[in-house]
Amino acid sequence: MTAHLIDGNALSKQLRTEVAARAQALKAQGVTPGLAVVLVGDNPASQVYVRNKVKACEDSGLHSVLEKYEATLTEADLLARVEALNKDPSIHGILVQLPLPPHIDAQKVIEAISPAKDVDGFHIASAGALMTGMPGFWPCTPYGCMKMLESIGYDLRGKHAVVIGRSNIVGKPMALMLLQKDATVTVAHSRTQNLKALTLQADVIVAAVGKRNVLTADMVKPGAVVLDVGMNRNDEGKLCGDVDFEGVKQVASHITPVPGGVGPMTITMLLVNTLEAAERASK
Ligand code: GUN
Repeated sequence: MTAHLIDGNALSKQLRTEVAARAQALKAQGVTPGLAVVLVGDNPASQVYVRNKVKACEDSGLHSVLEKYEATLTEADLLARVEALNKDPSIHGILVQLPLPPHIDAQKVIEAISPAKDVDGFHIASAGALMTGMPGFWPCTPYGCMKMLESIGYDLRGKHAVVIGRSNIVGKPMALMLLQKDATVTVAHSRTQNLKALTLQADVIVAAVGKRNVLTADMVKPGAVVLDVGMNRNDEGKLCGDVDFEGVKQVASHITPVPGGVGPMTITMLLVNTLEAAERASK
């Protein structure tokens, strides 16, 4: 048996069409949803990411502003920019691209963003809202993973989900989202002993470590659903995930490819969050 692919590009296309329609409806009321993307320094990967985010906004009818600053920008000046964007009524979402130069305290900058405009879902208030089940913004990558599970009609109630990775951006919020849908959740990480014994019990596995071949076919229960959040390069320089895709697809019932899986969903959920921020602001 070969697993069904969960196609992140196709699902993104569908969700972005919905975003575009909702953006049009808001525009008809005189509100254009707006995202500000702030980039400090010249990290090449960050430049590509922010370009893709701005382009995705344009394609879905959202207004976007890209603010680029030299790596020498002071923390005080960045905080002042964030404060100005907090007050700008044409901006509903603020994203400060990470990583920031080492002389800037990234957490301090994230906490300076108004929680009402925190479309990355990184603010401590957003994390608290997710933890307590209150309205807020969910981090885009795990939110995209939840949409992928929803797209295949997967009922998480009582299922065992194993999340590999415990980052604040993916692993921890992913675990909370799965828990909110009544899954039994295990969070594995670099100090976990006998990972295979855990993953073999899992109905759903989310691999979010940033290392190739963290999950191989012998670690997967037949019929499990496997979501691959990894973004790595293989020996030939080709993009690959954390999962041994060729092996695991022979065992899993559903699997996300890399590229074309979780990656496009992250930007899509940023658009969804920005639209949601604009809708909330206009109520
Ligand atoms: N750097 C890498 N991914 C992200 C992201 O999703 N948001 C922000 N702000 N920075 C990032």
